[in-house]
Amino acid sequence: MTDTLRLQETQPADRPQIPGLYAAAFPEEDLAALVEALLADPAVLSLSAVAGETLVGHALFTRGRLEGAAEHVALLGPIAVHPQHQRTGIGQGLITEGLARLKAEGVAQVLVLGDPSYYSRCGFRPESRVVPPYPLPAEWGQAWQWQRLDGSEADLAGRLMLPAPWMRAELWG
Ligand SMILES: CC(C)(COP(=O)(O)OP(=O)(O)OC[C@H]1O[C@@H](n2cnc3c(N)ncnc32)[C@H](O)[C@@H]1OP(=O)(O)O)[C@@H](O)C(=O)NCCC(=O)NCCS
Repeated sequence: MTDTLRLQETQPADRPQIPGLYAAAFPEEDLAALVEALLADPAVLSLSAVAGETLVGHALFTRGRLEGAAEHVALLGPIAVHPQHQRTGIGQGLITEGLARLKAEGVAQVLVLGDPSYYSRCGFRPESRVVPPYPLPAEWGQAWQWQRLDGSEADLAGRLMLPAPWMRAELWG
């Protein structure tokens, strides 16, 4: 019998499975330190996709601000789905759940740095005007994506201010 998938805020029982999930999904990248630091940060929304007792997907959303603006924003990432469970809708499910929760708490816009061919499926648009904490390589313009959650159609502007785990230049190119 297939276990029902649950999308939920990350529970203590999920935590020990998180490093292994990221290692499996990103065999050539070591995201462990970033993920651990984000999990310890109160500005972060952490969502798990759990089948039975097994963590099969995980996503982080970091709440932040734009310099000089009143709106609350958030950054999506990293997100990982276990290779054995990819392409079954878990990634999109985690993103949809996270966006709904952030919208409910009044977050106006979400940003993501990633493959536009994937994130466009979840409503993201390329080339945000928001200034990332560190300059992106020119060829990553399309990958810096945005989505309003408050019904507006306009990309916000301003410098993105995020908590300490994101303030490392190497995370941005
Ligand atoms: C990218 C990732 C989170 C997507 O999650 P997922 O659960 O596999 O994806 P979903 O089932 O929600 O969506 C699947 C659709 O997106 C497409 N897709 C999946 N990964 C994609 C990618 N990297 N680029 C473009 N499209 C992708 C698939 O083709 C699929 O479409 P199809 O059903 O028409 O074939 C997951 O594959 C993953 O963890 N990959 C490795 C780590 C990674 O690259 N993370 C993202 C960067 S932070």
